[in-house]
Amino acid sequence: MVQPSRQLGPLRPYGEVVTDEAPEFYGNAMNRVARLRLTPGQNRDAARGWWDADADSYQAEHRAFLGDVDLVWCPEGLREADAHLLGEVAGARVLEVGCGAAAASRWLVTQGASVVALDLSAGMLRHAVAGAAATDVRPALLQADAQSLPLRDGSFDIAFTAFGAVPFVDDSARVMREVFRVLRPGGRWVFSVTHPMRWIFMDHPGAEGLVATYSYFDRRPYVELDPYGRAIYVEHHRTLGDRVREIVAAGFVLTDVVEPEWPLGADHVWGQWSPVRGVLFPGTAIYVCDRP
Ligand SMILES: C[S@@+](CC[C@H](N)C(=O)[O-])C[C@H]1O[C@@H](n2cnc3c(N)ncnc32)[C@H](O)[C@@H]1O
Repeated sequence: MVQPSRQLGPLRPYGEVVTDEAPEFYGNAMNRVARLRLTPGQNRDAARGWWDADADSYQAEHRAFLGDVDLVWCPEGLREADAHLLGEVAGARVLEVGCGAAAASRWLVTQGASVVALDLSAGMLRHAVAGAAATDVRPALLQADAQSLPLRDGSFDIAFTAFGAVPFVDDSARVMREVFRVLRPGGRWVFSVTHPMRWIFMDHPGAEGLVATYSYFDRRPYVELDPYGRAIYVEHHRTLGDRVREIVAAGFVLTDVVEPEWPLGADHVWGQWSPVRGVLFPGTAIYVCDRP
């Protein structure tokens, strides 16, 4: 159990701290991690603030792995060029939700798709603009919240995201409904997120991350708090059943759940993803959904 220290102030405005993870350090300030319910406003502020502030370091850390013009679904390295989860993309109208630097959207442009790449974060979209200039591959860019898509009904054939938006919103069922709305009948929605069973373990790539520690059934989000007790990062868990229900309730038919395996011999680490854990249990779930 992390005890709120006097120096850092009480946590009461955000509720009870229930994690026993060690406090984490970012820069010079000590942040704390917790499982806490936030208001929608706190959730939105944390998401926008985090991704704007973190955009440069996220891209510095992951750009080489993700490529400048490529769709990589997950830290396991599954690439759309091999997996073909989106189906036929040439000539398709494609929406990327939570695009970050939009390398995936640029890849789709090179495959003949007409692409809109959307993100909440201006910091991330700045990297998308730079990526377009560097590669001369230019999807349309749009700043918007995945929970309220400023797009016409039925205007896309395919929508997708690799770890964008879905884990960071408090109402992911609403994202499912919004994506359903903007897809045409017969359209496809594919999204990757952290595998739900990962939530049983500490957020750690090493041996500490192999011990079942938290309840799979605890739906409270993972939250990082700054030294003033403000939520600055939030990520949401949905059990497998929760996720299937929100997909089906939106009107989709779930056609596959892909659980990419850790590649033989791969020794890279991405956050909590590592060979130590990857050979034992899945880190990513990719949901493939069709709009009837
Ligand atoms: C883990 S990054 C993934 C970025 C990119 N898809 C990639 O593979 O590198 C998550 C992205 O989701 C975006 N995001 C978070 N909440 C969002 C929301 N409500 N609407 C749209 N994008 C959001 C963040 O700004 C960030 O770019």
